[in-house]
Amino acid sequence: ETKHWTVSEQSLNKQAMSEAAVLLKQGEAVAFPTETVYGLGADATNEKAVRKIFEAKGRPSDNPLIVHVANTNQLEDLVEEVPDVAHKLLEAFSPGPLTLILKSKGTVAPNVSAGLDSIGIRIPSHPVGLRLLEEAAIPIAAPSANISGRPSPTRAEHVVHDLDGRIAGIMDGGPTGIGLESTVLDCTEAVPVILRPGGVTAEAIQRVIGTVMIDPGLAGEQKEKPKAPGMKYTHYAPEAPLYLVKENMQQQADKLAEAGEKVGIIATEELAATLDSERIQICGTRKNLATVAEHLYDALRHFKKSDVSVILCESFSKQDVGAAIMNRLEKAATGVM
Ligand code: TXA
Ligand code: MG
Repeated sequence: ETKHWTVSEQSLNKQAMSEAAVLLKQGEAVAFPTETVYGLGADATNEKAVRKIFEAKGRPSDNPLIVHVANTNQLEDLVEEVPDVAHKLLEAFSPGPLTLILKSKGTVAPNVSAGLDSIGIRIPSHPVGLRLLEEAAIPIAAPSANISGRPSPTRAEHVVHDLDGRIAGIMDGGPTGIGLESTVLDCTEAVPVILRPGGVTAEAIQRVIGTVMIDPGLAGEQKEKPKAPGMKYTHYAPEAPLYLVKENMQQQADKLAEAGEKVGIIATEELAATLDSERIQICGTRKNLATVAEHLYDALRHFKKSDVSVILCESFSKQDVGAAIMNRLEKAATGVM
């Protein structure tokens, strides 16, 4: 009973767009592509509609949702004020993979922000997602369109796998480009704080506004809790336990195989070329870590419990987009070796 549409960037299927927009306006939950990952959208002003998102995903209700809008006018309707730094950031990175946390005006349904007086807002740049937001012309609350705890969906088939039959519609716009979720930046403090590293890097933000802080809870030092409520939950978990491998991938894999494990390996093409293994999933090239971001979640979903008992994944430096890649991998991993 879930409706399926296929929409390409070239020919924005008008019929599909208006059907999906009507469902959203009627208070249904619909999945759609953004440039980061697929989102599961619902009318952010309709509490019952928003509840459908939490139910379909099995999402804890204390984890607030990002509200997606088509333009800055719509954004300004939802917040008390847009500070100067936020204006600069919107100009530089919006539409795009940046979510700004601002003071809420309280116009969205209370379950969107899980009781916080702030609101996360983003204008996505994906032509299909953006067009749908324009057509619906209402603010759309949308977390990633996966069952909570699983890797975020970067292809429509990931959404179908997790949510088919549980939501009103799935719009297939092909693979998403960036592959990791947006950067979440808290602009309610004098100096903005990165709560979740993502598509827009700390380095890029710094170039626009001078200074940016990083939530100490992200560094993995157990003293501080992460400030974005969602960052404390298990996330991105593949079907088999995952270990991050800093060096000697071949030796680590051999040792586990000798102990009777069925080892799957996620590696860049450069590392893969040096390995001797039956089960390797290539996740991009070290020459361009954006390709690793793009393919990472698909790689995490690649290995099934029936085929492997443990997954080893290459490790990366935390520079630029590497920061977001390693943030997700460290959350997905059972350990490091
Ligand atoms: O790229 C993305 O951001 C995707 C696409 C669909 O836009 N969405 C996404 O949503 O990743 P979700 O729900 O999976 O992650 C939202 C994150 C969570 O870590 C949540 O805790 C945080 O943003 N967040 C949302 N509102 C917040 C607020 N008011 N204060 C602090 N953190 C907030
Ligand atoms: Mg998510």
